[in-house]
Amino acid sequence: MNFRITHIAVAAALAAGGAHMNAHPATNAVRVCTLPGSPTAVLDVAVARAVLKAAGIPATFAAHGIDDDGGDDGISAHELSRALGRDCDLVAGFPRSSIADASGSQMVFSQGYLRSGYVSITLRGPHAATAAADGKETVAATWSSPSQLIAVQQKNVRFDLENTSELTVDAVAKGRAQRAIVWYPAVVAYQRTHPEQQFAVAAAPSPYADWNLVFASRPGMRALQARIDDSLTHMNGDGRLAALTRGWTLPEGATSEARADAPHFDDAMTSYRRARDNVRAAGHIIKVAATTGGNPPAFDHEQVEHGQHIYSESCAKCHGAQLEGITAPALSGPAFAPAANSHLTIGGIYQYMSTNMPADRPGKMSDQEYADLMAFLLYTNGYDAGDAKLTSEAAQSSTTPLNAGPRH
Ligand code: HEC
Repeated sequence: MNFRITHIAVAAALAAGGAHMNAHPATNAVRVCTLPGSPTAVLDVAVARAVLKAAGIPATFAAHGIDDDGGDDGISAHELSRALGRDCDLVAGFPRSSIADASGSQMVFSQGYLRSGYVSITLRGPHAATAAADGKETVAATWSSPSQLIAVQQKNVRFDLENTSELTVDAVAKGRAQRAIVWYPAVVAYQRTHPEQQFAVAAAPSPYADWNLVFASRPGMRALQARIDDSLTHMNGDGRLAALTRGWTLPEGATSEARADAPHFDDAMTSYRRARDNVRAAGHIIKVAATTGGNPPAFDHEQVEHGQHIYSESCAKCHGAQLEGITAPALSGPAFAPAANSHLTIGGIYQYMSTNMPADRPGKMSDQEYADLMAFLLYTNGYDAGDAKLTSEAAQSSTTPLNAGPRH
């Protein structure tokens, strides 16, 4: 389950606008979708049901939310805009920031039904983790989400970038990080399945922290949105909305004011999006095929050392000196090489890396350099060096899943 939402994809969809959207006759029941992997999906459906019923509008609900082509990497802007023409008239649980998407919007939105956002969490109780010996706190954030934007504003901390908001909460629960900046509904969802886990929740003081869940649709659905707004206003007045959203609202003291003086939001979002789009454009999505296995390819110490040198020169500025992730995902730890069930093969990583990295000079290194970098990545993820050299061919053809090696 992935809630890499795609607040970024969402902003891109807004920018892309009506271009891909076909008109759909609004005579039938309204087709409602939720966003794939969203921790609020249950709530979104419940609110949509109640609101549309109160408005006397017949509705059907897509069984699995927007069809995100079966990928495990969230929904792209393209998929969202396509889905809005094809599968849905209304997206329930669309996160909207008061400062992010005010301009140039090609979609229409209802008023918000849940004010939520990014919060800072720590573990409560005797298991609360303490900072490392150097006094630096490790802060977990969700890769490619506003959580990452908020986290990188913090000075003097180490980052643990996780692939989903669920894993970001988990990083604090399991002690991979002392603190996390995370989408609050993911904390609620996590606590429902791990009731023994108690988190202290505080505001993440940032102009990027404050979001509202709304209903979104194409501009042609303005009349529908007006009726939804009427219902929401009524349900707000008579307490029905509060009853539905109980448990999901931000706790006292964890709300953070959106500030109008945040001119860099769009810039920051755009540069993340561009980095992603550039690498994605090459079309190399790394996935583990059904038939994978075998031993990891061998490599030697000299390669690890040389790989480390190239890494600090060409990769550390984005992926972090400790491979912890800064503006690019972490290249060590469970978000990259989990203990089991990895989604990535060593060969897949190698091909991806040698085609797309370094992101500012893709594919510009020699086969030998990429092989040495791979040796370094294997070593830092728990594999032991041996006597044999890793060749580019051996790295490329490896179908071994990249799980954390024996030293982990
Ligand atoms: C200018 C910033 C930048 C530099 C420099 C850079 N990368 Fe990346 N890298 C990225 C971004 C952004 C992504 C994520 C792309 C995505 O998820 O769509 C990425 C993804 C990766 C991935 C895939 C990670 C995963 O979990 O999917 C690997 C492996 C990788 N980079 C290795 C390297 C290596 C090795 C170097 C140095 C030779 C390097 N990168 C240099 C920005 C950079």
